[in-house]
Amino acid sequence: MHQTQAYISSNKKRFLDELLDLLSIPSISADSSYNEHVEKCAKKLSKNLRKIGLSNVEIYSTAGHPIVYGEKIIDPKLPTVLIYGHYDVQPADPLDLWDSDPFNPVIRKTQLHPEGAIFARGACDDKGQMFMHVKAVEAMIASEELKCNVKFMIEGEEEVGSENLAIFVKNQKELLDADIILVSDTGMLANDVPSITTGLRGLSYVEVEVTGPNRDLHSGLYGGCVANPINILCDMISQLQNKDLSISIPGFYDQVINLSMEERNEMSKAPFSHDAYCKSIDINDTHGEKDFSTMERGSIRPTLDVNGIWGGYTGEGAKTVIPSKAYAKISMRLVPNQDPEEITRLFCDHFVSIAPDGVRVRVTPHHGGEPAVTPVDSTGYQAASYAYEKSFGKKPIPVRSGGSIPIIAMFEKELGLKTVLMGFGLDSDAIHSPNEHYGLFNFYKGIETIPYFFESFSQLSK
Ligand code: BES
Ligand code: MN
Ligand code: MN
Repeated sequence: MHQTQAYISSNKKRFLDELLDLLSIPSISADSSYNEHVEKCAKKLSKNLRKIGLSNVEIYSTAGHPIVYGEKIIDPKLPTVLIYGHYDVQPADPLDLWDSDPFNPVIRKTQLHPEGAIFARGACDDKGQMFMHVKAVEAMIASEELKCNVKFMIEGEEEVGSENLAIFVKNQKELLDADIILVSDTGMLANDVPSITTGLRGLSYVEVEVTGPNRDLHSGLYGGCVANPINILCDMISQLQNKDLSISIPGFYDQVINLSMEERNEMSKAPFSHDAYCKSIDINDTHGEKDFSTMERGSIRPTLDVNGIWGGYTGEGAKTVIPSKAYAKISMRLVPNQDPEEITRLFCDHFVSIAPDGVRVRVTPHHGGEPAVTPVDSTGYQAASYAYEKSFGKKPIPVRSGGSIPIIAMFEKELGLKTVLMGFGLDSDAIHSPNEHYGLFNFYKGIETIPYFFESFSQLSK
């Protein structure tokens, strides 16, 4: 991989400029007023795929946002790596909390990124990480050191649940035929502590509506006499957790695969500082399920969190009113072997059952996703481990992550393929938050590490 690495080091500046170009397009999938930009981003990406020498580059339109595809088949007998990523991003709001325009990327130094980091929505999640693969493959093609076939499938709807990608995957099994799926859309422990993600949580997401009286009422005339939907909603939400902060929904834990003490001991070897954790998000203590560590609570345990809650009067000053309705959005992160549909059903039944007389309750499910685990004894993991060791000079630590990428479980189910999650982001990179950023070190290290994966995967597949 000498030629490849030399090519990378002499093209760094251009790689960065091309990424900044992609980051300047507000490809927000959740907000239809940005559809034009999402489309533009797909076009720009497909042009780049063509430019680096891929064939069959195509923008597949879907019922939602398009999927960008491209491939380099050097020899059908060689193993094929299918690279998955997403070019869509989360909405940037609240805009006033950004220190710079989210779609006008700038490079600033931070404590954890002394070499500079790119500040823009999507810098880490996932344009910056997805684009590392495009540039790594460019370098291998240009240096004639590509030893595997490559397919790219970059979608525009990851942040909204990948529903159309799921249909695409089901319908395009032949096109997507491969030996392994490679993804950079997760994180690592620290820039000097490389790690490989070996599991993702699933997701069940619901919206609840509690209705009391048929209209907002004067809180003096009616207060104390009718159920206030906001009071009731708060009470119902607080009932969803037990005193030990486990979740009280009957059946919720029935399918959970509990880790053995041995596996938990292994997990606890990963470096974690309680103080640094608290300090980084300005809290004075952590909070979570009894008898589990923070690392465990955030990865191998399921959760229930209110993501938003609203209703009644929230304008300036005081308005004395009992609202007719109250709402909340609630997410549940799931672990193997919880089934999102089953959990959603359990939630609905339970939530309706705890509603007191005097209110009506409606639960609307949103998109969900299945949890996934990737085995450490697979060829893909071994190749990734080799790659990190080669570029970081240290063996990577396997870690289960708390986030979700719903399509990963589908890859295994529909295509029968294992996934390797080679993430290079840091938890502190503020994905989905104001001031999202991605370290230049991480961007370049990713580009340098990926070719070693290809090298090793082709060797190990022989
Ligand atoms: N890339 C993230 C998921 C992620 C981030 C996993 C960091 C592990 C570490 C992805 O884009 C994402 O945000 N997923 C959503 C789920 C989706 C259904 C909206 C999530 O986890 O909330
Ligand atoms: Mn992502
Ligand atoms: Mn995301």
